[in-house]
Amino acid sequence: MKKKYILSPSILSADFLNLKSEIDTVSKYGADWIHVDVMDGHFVPNLSMGPFIVEHLKKITDKTIDVHLMLDNPDEFIPSFAKAGADVLTVHVEASVHLHRTISLIKSFGLKAGVAINPSTNVAALEEILPFIDLILVMTINPGFSGQKYIPEMTQKIKKVRALIDNNNPDIELQVDGGINQNTIDDVLKAGANNIVAASAIFKHPVGIKQGIEVFKTAFEEFSK
Ligand code: DX5
Ligand code: ZN
Repeated sequence: MKKKYILSPSILSADFLNLKSEIDTVSKYGADWIHVDVMDGHFVPNLSMGPFIVEHLKKITDKTIDVHLMLDNPDEFIPSFAKAGADVLTVHVEASVHLHRTISLIKSFGLKAGVAINPSTNVAALEEILPFIDLILVMTINPGFSGQKYIPEMTQKIKKVRALIDNNNPDIELQVDGGINQNTIDDVLKAGANNIVAASAIFKHPVGIKQGIEVFKTAFEEFSK
């Protein structure tokens, strides 16, 4: 199993009036990537940010910009996100009829390509696309909002995806997103996730961002032994 752990704080819960200082703080305390949640009000019942946020982030950080596209028509926006400077683009299997075409489009810009699956989507939906992708994102909540509760049944699903990755394409990142905090991090790491997205547990930690990040870094150390 891949042992390199990555922490990707989601700026959905950041203080947008102080975005630069929020990015500086998570970077200082050990964020590896920066997760950007893009929502269209159709695929998910919320609106968030577009390519311009990525463009601005690129000016203030050299961290990997990890963009999670929760959009009905991802192909329409992939070129704009590539131009804005995204490093990883993840699309939902439920939103892409021609998933191989979408992944090829992402790759044509030289970016890493990820595929996300919602809680109710069967792991089998990933099988045929495995040779073409760099990341699988297992949603552990229904996408649309930060601050939701982890769905405990997803732990089994993470295990299934870990087995699929190990048996087919071990270089694929196994990312999890939704309700990951000090109560759930051990379960998802034990199940085989190596790439962790967290919004509220970091940016809304009751003590501070530093303490929020420490929870994850300590868990990573434990699991690296
Ligand atoms: C939800 C987003 C998540 C969200 C996670 O649709 O994909 O990245 O920000 O928020 P928390 O970590 O608070 O569950
Ligand atoms: Zn996300």
